[in-house]
Amino acid sequence: MTRQAEHETPRKPFLYVVVCAAGVAGDVSKLITAAQERNWEVGVIATPLATNGFFDPAAVEAQTGRPIRSAWRAPGDPRPFPAPDAVVVAPATFNTVNKWAAGIADTLALGTLCEAAGLGVPVAVLPCVADALAAHPAYRHSLARLRGMGVRFGDPYAGEADEDGGRPEFGWERALDLL
Ligand SMILES: Cc1cc2nc3c(=O)[nH]c(=O)nc-3n(C[C@H](O)[C@H](O)[C@H](O)COP(=O)(O)O)c2cc1C
Repeated sequence: MTRQAEHETPRKPFLYVVVCAAGVAGDVSKLITAAQERNWEVGVIATPLATNGFFDPAAVEAQTGRPIRSAWRAPGDPRPFPAPDAVVVAPATFNTVNKWAAGIADTLALGTLCEAAGLGVPVAVLPCVADALAAHPAYRHSLARLRGMGVRFGDPYAGEADEDGGRPEFGWERALDLL
């Protein structure tokens, strides 16, 4: 937390919302609204694939009042977001969970996640991973490794249609409850 002069209004805590390329990402505005209602200021970091039609970037930028970050800044550029007070990954894909657990930092989203636990800030994850993928042993190892680092996970969500053809609610607020 940055030190503030007595006359300054205390800034709101800053939440990074990391968005991956899963179908439910189209509803990420629900998470942003819920976070803002809980007094978080929100900045969105998307994986490069997630910016490729998985959600409406203009709507998210209007909602947060900040550009979505997806690429690394140039060396001389200032950091566009303040340091995080907490990080949420929602939805978290099979791909991103495995790469994160393996320490791969080849996108801004992954680099941010790899650093987050070391910063000592709370990190909450809502995976959206089909049961067939979740059965892969690498995924089970990834979850165990990240849990061992203190990362908090919501219950599994496969995103698959039920018997009536509807999908269960993703339950975005679960991420905030985990922080
Ligand atoms: C329409 C669509 C929906 C997808 N939904 C999911 C999903 O729910 N979970 C998942 O792990 N991958 C899903 N994928 C696959 C991921 O987009 C893919 O693994 C990608 O490499 C993930 O990249 P990222 O982790 O960098 O965001 C979906 C792909 C498409 C085209």
